Amino acid sequence: MSAQLIDGKATAEAIRDSIKQKVQERTNKGLRAPGLAVVLVGNDPASEVYVSHKRKDCEQVGIISKAYDLPASTSQQELLELIDTLNSDNSVDGILVQLPLPQGLKADEILERIDPTKDVDGFHPFNIGRLAQRMPLLRPCTPAGIVDLLDNTGIDIRGKHAVIVGASNIVGRPMGLELLLKGCTVTTCHRFTQDTASHVRQADIVVVAVGKPGIVKGEWIKDGAIVIDVGINRMPDGKLIGDVDFAAAAERASHITPVPGGVGPMTRAKLLENTLFACEHLHN
Ligand code: GUN
Repeated sequence: MSAQLIDGKATAEAIRDSIKQKVQERTNKGLRAPGLAVVLVGNDPASEVYVSHKRKDCEQVGIISKAYDLPASTSQQELLELIDTLNSDNSVDGILVQLPLPQGLKADEILERIDPTKDVDGFHPFNIGRLAQRMPLLRPCTPAGIVDLLDNTGIDIRGKHAVIVGASNIVGRPMGLELLLKGCTVTTCHRFTQDTASHVRQADIVVVAVGKPGIVKGEWIKDGAIVIDVGINRMPDGKLIGDVDFAAAAERASHITPVPGGVGPMTRAKLLENTLFACEHLHN
């Protein structure tokens, strides 16, 4: 392997340390600690794991997390009413509704009901619109975390060709907006793209967020490219792997994120950062 590993775990730890210190400074001054409402509907096993991590992260940095664990039978109306209650609760700075929601619930309507100043996931159309218009407020956590990782490489990415594979609302689309903001030339590949390999072969930066192991082959990677793998796929043997054929890609890339320990920890750290930001700048 010739690529340098991008250590998301260490970067996330440094972010958490800094947040912990800032929360402590607030409480030392007699100000309230930030509050995050974490809403989990149903019992999707992966979601249960993600939510338990997020709650543990809050505890570690002094953010007060409030748990709302609801049965899969929860109605759209009940969930909307909970959002309304949390929107008007002054101890709540951030509202996180873990996705995916159980079948029958309309996620778009729920997410749009969240007060945009409490939308710490950055999924609300208001926050996506702000990002699209070059005045971000609360930024989607995974793309924002990836920008931090790219900044940390010390490489000036302005003018570079970034190719994103995957066009989800959570990662691919806001990633394109973040990279545009950084001055990259952005190509987004998706399920209807005719020859994804030919695009990836030209990329200085590749971000892959599809959720299919091995969807990006190592031989597609241009020599010296930066490779960011957002995929987290659990294999039958319990091992976690990304969307990129890691070993072969690492032979060609200059920098690459591992799975686990790359993007995942950064998503969690940026959620805490957004919650502190909402508390300090949007709710006092
Ligand atoms: N499901 C997968 N990723 C995310 C995320 O970043 N936030 C929420 N709320 N749900 C998710």
